[in-house]
Amino acid sequence: MAAVLRDAYGLTVSTDSRAAVDHYDRGVRALLGFGADTVAAFEAAVSADPEFALARAGLAVSRYLNEEMAEGRAEMDRAVAAAQAPGLSARERRHVDALALWVGGRGNDAIPLIREILAEHPRDMMLIQRLYYIHFWQGRSAEMLELIESVRGGALDGDSYMLGLHAFSLEENGRYAEALPLAERAVGMNPKDAWAVHAIAHVLYETGENDRGAEALPPRIHPCDHLSYFRNHLLWHLALMHLAEGRYDRAAALFRSVFGRLPIEVSADLQDSVSLAWRLDLFEHPDPERWRHLGAVARNRQCVECLDLLAWLRFKLHDVAGAIEAERRAIAAWPYESAPRRLLGHMSELVRAGEKG
Ligand SMILES: [Fe+2]
Repeated sequence: MAAVLRDAYGLTVSTDSRAAVDHYDRGVRALLGFGADTVAAFEAAVSADPEFALARAGLAVSRYLNEEMAEGRAEMDRAVAAAQAPGLSARERRHVDALALWVGGRGNDAIPLIREILAEHPRDMMLIQRLYYIHFWQGRSAEMLELIESVRGGALDGDSYMLGLHAFSLEENGRYAEALPLAERAVGMNPKDAWAVHAIAHVLYETGENDRGAEALPPRIHPCDHLSYFRNHLLWHLALMHLAEGRYDRAAALFRSVFGRLPIEVSADLQDSVSLAWRLDLFEHPDPERWRHLGAVARNRQCVECLDLLAWLRFKLHDVAGAIEAERRAIAAWPYESAPRRLLGHMSELVRAGEKG
């Protein structure tokens, strides 16, 4: 009988391929650390064992996070099919079901299922991280902290990713004095733990320690050498610290070096670049070149946020008809059943502006 294989967190996984599990562990770590090789690691796991349902689900999640929605959902369909095979544990089946709900845009429905699974398997880091970010994007800071406190402890105390998750949730709840040493401990254990570096950035910014932050961040960002877009987000934090201290040239230089020529492939880059350009405008250091670049990027993309931004840029240029058309495309590109109030609100504002002439 083949030996039962376990993932890096000690959970049994249904595959006979040790190589597939190793690649899967690498994928999970990359997801936890915003690694550039997340998709590649899960792909390697799937090619080592095409029937490995959890690896397919991990691949689906990472494609979805890369905003390859259709590919992510198609991969998740394959994961759900693979999870029907006899011999899979109830944990694995429910794990795939929970991630399938999330990839299907049903994060709220995934919450109780993930909680149920974690009550029995509190070391399922894939699900811990997903639920954490569901709460994060819903602005539910108390729930983020409560989640981490419910699963932390025991062997997970030795895991930098767990400490980083805990540190950031403490920070989001205003518990800065506890958050900072915990985040520093995580980075000490694992200098590539980008989420812990992020917690440090947030604490120092929120507590007004911008000079300390501007000094602390670069040597902490540097070792995170396999970061994807999250590097830009950390550098964006650095730019905010320079801005807060009136070092506008440093902030403008960071805009140029980080976002100035970036093709911008995920929405996070767009949000950060737009918000930095906007802040530089507010601080009276405008540069039309920034908006030209961002407008060109938005025009070439079909993502909802880009089209929404394009509508706003067109409106700023007094092209209301073009703005309405871009907003119409943003609403049409929304991947779920009904467009959010935010987009519909923008559209009605534009239509009102059009009627006023
Ligand atoms: Fe941040």
